[in-house]
Amino acid sequence: MLRDILNKYELDKSDLLYLMNLTDKDDLNMLYEKAYSIKEKFIGRKAYFRGLIEFSNVCIKDCYYCGIRKSSPQERFSMTKEEILSMAQWAYENEYGSVTLQSGERNDAEYVEFITEIIKDIKNLSDAKLGITLCLGEQSEETYQRWFDAGAHRYLLRIETTSKELYKRIHPNDELHSLQKRIDCLEALKKIGYQVGTGVMIGLPSQTEEDLVNDILFFKEKDIDMIGMGPYVVHKDTPMGIEVLTKNMDTEEEKAKRFELGIKMIAITRLYLKDVNIAATTALQALNPLGRELGLKAGANILMPIITLQEYRYGYQLYDNKPCIDDDQNHCKVCLTGRVLSVGDMVGFAEWGDSPHFKVKNNSK
Ligand code: 5AD
Repeated sequence: MLRDILNKYELDKSDLLYLMNLTDKDDLNMLYEKAYSIKEKFIGRKAYFRGLIEFSNVCIKDCYYCGIRKSSPQERFSMTKEEILSMAQWAYENEYGSVTLQSGERNDAEYVEFITEIIKDIKNLSDAKLGITLCLGEQSEETYQRWFDAGAHRYLLRIETTSKELYKRIHPNDELHSLQKRIDCLEALKKIGYQVGTGVMIGLPSQTEEDLVNDILFFKEKDIDMIGMGPYVVHKDTPMGIEVLTKNMDTEEEKAKRFELGIKMIAITRLYLKDVNIAATTALQALNPLGRELGLKAGANILMPIITLQEYRYGYQLYDNKPCIDDDQNHCKVCLTGRVLSVGDMVGFAEWGDSPHFKVKNNSK
């Protein structure tokens, strides 16, 4: 049965569900090996770095799971333009093909302008060579267009979950936190011409295997180019974190389960979507010291080394046990390069490493 499914070219929903419910170690290894071979075929044995700059924890949203939610009483920081540009300069000099700008969500005019200037400046300082991915939440179509025109070419906006009920359960029930708005944003990004990324959190309380399969079907339906997803990790000062801890649902066993589900999602998504970029995210490593390597072995091809200046890393914790918090960007480069080589992949230095899916789609237009 498993062999038959793994040898099919087009999987259907029942196949995906079957794979999502696998628990036997040998079966899982077979799944991961197959996913790795698909990555090898469609992408090559290469991983690309996206230098992650987490430049501000100011946020207008109040998501129940997130450590930098608006109601969290922590100190807020926002880096200066010079600081952000110095990190981009470092990424350029170290031959990272691109940087990802991430922050809490804001949509005021001053912020929109600030980002526009930064995008232009990064393009200038790198002779237009550094690719720019944005991970700045929900914005108006006009703002997305401005940032695209300024030089950003990829945008990552996680849908978090495609289940309406679950989305409501993990966000305040108001207009600022709307699943439909997120879907509309993904459509707008695609229309403008961005390479569009999305993703979900895996192992959320009450999330089912079928929910996760529906998420993967959504990625295909929306013709997504890049996937960034990872296991849910408790942040102890958030409403969801408190609930999970109170119900004793954050035991080592539960964490291992969430981790495994995270790796399975990568493998099944690779099997189903084939030529998209898939990140082995930092959250994997928060639950398992070898998390990102295992992600690469199960079909991921993107790593996002944190290049945030060390002094700000404490202030940007979406979840507890964030890895690399005491490291600097030089250490992260050496460490992650070693992790990539250890699984037998190469690092695609100084390349954008665009999603082959995006290229294929646009060449055939
Ligand atoms: N655990 C895992 N991922 C989280 N994110 C936010 N909080 C958590 C958490 N507690 C993810 C969300 C968001 C991305 C930037 O970080 O999916 O889109």
